[in-house]
Amino acid sequence: MLIAPSLLSCDFSKMGQEIKRMEEAKADFMHLDVMDGHFVPNITFGAPVIKTIRSYTDVPFDVHLMISEPLKYIDDFASAGADIITFHIESDSDIQQTIDKIKSKGIKAGLVIKPNTPASMVFPYLKDLYMVLIMTVEPGFGGQSFMADMLPKVSEIKEKSKTENPRLLIEVDGGIAEDTIGQAAKAGVDICVAGTAVFKAKDSKKAIEKLKAIAAEV
Ligand code: DX5
Ligand code: ZN
Repeated sequence: MLIAPSLLSCDFSKMGQEIKRMEEAKADFMHLDVMDGHFVPNITFGAPVIKTIRSYTDVPFDVHLMISEPLKYIDDFASAGADIITFHIESDSDIQQTIDKIKSKGIKAGLVIKPNTPASMVFPYLKDLYMVLIMTVEPGFGGQSFMADMLPKVSEIKEKSKTENPRLLIEVDGGIAEDTIGQAAKAGVDICVAGTAVFKAKDSKKAIEKLKAIAAEV
């Protein structure tokens, strides 16, 4: 299992150091939650902030856009140094155009689905994607409870991608902790985002090790 700590739970007054701390804790990706206060009822940070923290690590930046018009901002996030850009299928931008734009920048593209969105919505785009991100909480805030009833979406998408894109990765986001990561692993998830469970742990390195160990057991 790959672990992507969500910087949403970091100390924003020292983001650079927090990124270094996650690199030392052996994070596989840095998960960066961009919220516009419109698509979701919360505001975080945008491309200028991501640009300033880019130089702190070579660990890939997994940028999760919770914004209404992702297509308008792909250039900005590309020049800020995103390695993966995931955006919501429920957003207002043209989906295919946005995927194509991300890929034209040499960045890996991902689609995200909210809890009420069926897995089948992403089927038409699977062949063009690096990952599908399945929300296991309503997007907007960290520290919410894991929705285990989202896990059947993992096998639905995996099954469909077998023929269309066998290398497609599945990521889940929200409520991942020691008591939930086993279920995600069992369902076939490749990458788990974890905010609270990693940042609020006394020892983030041990927290990541433990999460991976639990996932490996199933
Ligand atoms: C929610 C964000 C998540 C969130 C996860 O909208 O996309 O990345 O920070 O936080 P935890 O792990 O605390 O649920
Ligand atoms: Zn996220």
